[in-house]
Amino acid sequence: MKAIAVVGAQWGDEGKGKVVDFLAGSFDYSARYGGGHNAGHTVIIGDNRYVLQLIPCGILREGRKAIIGSGVVVDPAALVAELESLSKGGINVQGRLFLSNRAHLIFPFHRELEKSAESALGPHKIGTTSRGIGPAYEDKMARRGLRVCDLMDGERFQRKLERDIEVKDAFSRAAYGQPLDTAGIFEMYGELAEKIRGFVTDTSSLVNRALAEGKSILFEGAQGTMLDIDHGTYPYVTSSSAIAGGACTGLGVAPTKMTGVIGVTKAYTTRVGGGPFPTEMPDLDAKAVRDRGNEYGAVTGRPRRCGWLDLVMLRYAVQVNGIDSLVVTKLDVFDTQTEIQVCVGYRYKGSKLDEMPAEVEVLAEVTPEYKTLRGWQKPTEHVREAHDLPEAARDYMKFISDSLGAEIGMISTGPERDATIIPPGTKLASCL
Ligand code: GDP
Ligand code: IMO
Ligand code: MG
Repeated sequence: MKAIAVVGAQWGDEGKGKVVDFLAGSFDYSARYGGGHNAGHTVIIGDNRYVLQLIPCGILREGRKAIIGSGVVVDPAALVAELESLSKGGINVQGRLFLSNRAHLIFPFHRELEKSAESALGPHKIGTTSRGIGPAYEDKMARRGLRVCDLMDGERFQRKLERDIEVKDAFSRAAYGQPLDTAGIFEMYGELAEKIRGFVTDTSSLVNRALAEGKSILFEGAQGTMLDIDHGTYPYVTSSSAIAGGACTGLGVAPTKMTGVIGVTKAYTTRVGGGPFPTEMPDLDAKAVRDRGNEYGAVTGRPRRCGWLDLVMLRYAVQVNGIDSLVVTKLDVFDTQTEIQVCVGYRYKGSKLDEMPAEVEVLAEVTPEYKTLRGWQKPTEHVREAHDLPEAARDYMKFISDSLGAEIGMISTGPERDATIIPPGTKLASCL
């Protein structure tokens, strides 16, 4: 039995899409357990580029099945748009896609409320993706959310929606002086309901049945460890459980069933949106990495902030996720670098910090301690064997692995499926 989670070890956009696509050929199912269409997972297959937001990347593998679990918040309009775009790309999802009847719904008023909440924060805004993710999870936790199962029953849906809109509108007027635009929502969601009805099922039963039959499942994380609601750089986080544990709650599968955790990190660090970033590079260096790595948000197109690799953060990610195997992506982006800095520790007010601080105010003021490694200044793009990497690149990988006490199970040397190195004899190699 294989039940393996692929999680982001940084602030998202680590290349989970590419990694899941690569691995999915060896798994029966891939399953999303959290987040919503704030995620943007890029997969390049030949000349085609897919950016998946809600549907697990495994759907791109012929005959494999994909699950959207109950921990995901679903905007039915976004889901239908994604289905249409897959269909245009010749991907047939019929009989292969399953949507949890327990997943919570995102409505247009969630986006409106998010916009008002963000502008009320002024300079302290989170810098969200404006997809209504936070307000939808707020409703879920406040026990007033509407779920996919409600959408499937027109009468019940209308009753709950009308009551919800009344309360939300009153709140928006009182808090932000803004009425909500709710015209036509019921009709629109009624039409969307019919387009997704065929996919709706009890996905927890599906996952557990599949595991009992000896099928293999890849849990596809969205966002990253440092964006996790409990363990990330709160409040500059998303509103869901992005870490490996989230796969259990978000899919209704027991922790005892999970057989491994793969953590994905870039060879450097990026972040989109606000919040502290200790190893952020000065503008000119960041621009060079952004240009080479094409570091622009897959969802919002925003330029990503760029910085050096942060081993303090990765050590924390290994701890909270129980990472067995690390994937390092975008090694090729460093090909022209003469020197590489790696953060090996934090100092705060002159003293060494032993743990990741809980307070963003402290994290914003830590001084990273760097070790300087030599660059390789040779092309690594599309290298497929570890022994074909330049020596300095191998040294960099070894340094990361030794510092974290975790194997490097995959190195990515380009966005394409085949620009991938799988060092032999690793736990990850044994999953293929
Ligand atoms: P995700 O959200 O973790 O799935 O990552 P994104 O898709 O948002 O961002 C990762 C970006 O890096 C995408 O544009 C990928 O095509 C690209 N990418 C992934 N792996 C590599 C790699 O090894 N080298 C390069 N140059 N690009 C990569
Ligand atoms: P993937 O799955 C990078 C960030 C936003 C913002 C914060 C909160 O592609 O790695 P939200 O809209 O979730 O309330 O925004 O989280 N964020 C991401 N950053 N990759 C993502 O997803 C992200 N999803 C959310 O930029 O800082
Ligand atoms: Mg992304």
